Amino acid sequence: MPKYVVLLGAPGAGKGTQAVTISEEMGLPHISSGDIFRENLKNETELGKEAAQFINAGELVPDDLTIKMIEDRLSREDCKDGAVLDGFPRTAPQAAALDEMLVKFDGQVDVVPFIDVPTEELVKRLSGRIVCKKCGATFHKVFNPYTVCPSGEDHSEFLYQREDDKEETVRNRIKVYLANTSPLIEYYENRGVLARVNGDQDIEAVREDVLAVLK
Ligand code: AP5
Ligand code: MG
Repeated sequence: MPKYVVLLGAPGAGKGTQAVTISEEMGLPHISSGDIFRENLKNETELGKEAAQFINAGELVPDDLTIKMIEDRLSREDCKDGAVLDGFPRTAPQAAALDEMLVKFDGQVDVVPFIDVPTEELVKRLSGRIVCKKCGATFHKVFNPYTVCPSGEDHSEFLYQREDDKEETVRNRIKVYLANTSPLIEYYENRGVLARVNGDQDIEAVREDVLAVLK
C-alpha cells in the first residue's frame, strides 16, 4: 500500500527544509505545490501565468487549479509507493479532494507532521531565506548559511530570494494560513493522524523529532 505523508505548517515553518530529509529517508518523492507553481512561472506556462497574480500577492491559488495540478503529479509513476506532500492541502476542499484521490491510488493520508512555530519567528525566517534556483535547496542568511548545495556542488551563482518573501507579502501569507489552513490541524487531529513537532528548535533537532514521528 502506498504511503502518504502530509507536512503541515505555516509559511516559513520549515516544511521544505524537512521534506528533503523525509523524502530521502522514506524513499518517496517530495511534492511541493509551491515549487511546482514556481517551476510553471519560470517556464511561463498557462498554469504559471494564472497562478502568478495569487502567489506574488501571498494569496492562495484557486482550489480547482491546485487540486488538478496535484492529482496529475500524484498519478505519475514515481508516486506509485506514495509521496511526501509539502504545501498541499491548504484548504478544507483541498483536504477533501486529497482524501478522494488517494482512494483511487489505494492509499490514504497516513501521517501529518505539524511543524509548530510561533508567528513572530516566521517573519525572521522568511526574510532571511535564500533558495537555489538550480536544485531547490533552501538556506538562511543567519540560521543556515550557504556553503554548498546538498549535492556537494557550488551553486552560488543560482542563489536568489523569493518574490513573495517581502515582509508585507509574508504577513499576508501568514494571515491567509491562519484563516484557511490552520483548521486542517483539527481536521487531521480528529482523524488521529496528526503528530505535533516543536518547530522552534534548530533544524537538526526538528529533523530528529520529525523522523521520530514517522517511525
Ligand atoms: P509555498 O512555496 O508552499 O510557501 P509556504 O507555505 O508559504 O511555505 P514556505 O515555502 O514559505 O515555507 P517552508 O515551511 O517550506 O519553510 P522553509 O523550509 O523554506 O507556497 C507559495 C505560494 O504558492 C502560496 O503563497 C500560494 O500562493 C501558492 N500555493 C502553494 N500551495 C498552494 C495550495 N495548496 N493552494 C493554493 N495555493 C498554493 O524554511 C524557511 C526559512 O527558515 C529558510 O530560510 C530555512 O533555512 C529557515 N529554517 C527552516 N527551519 C529552521 C529552523 N528550525 N530554525 C531556523 N531556521 C529555519
Ligand atoms: Mg516551502
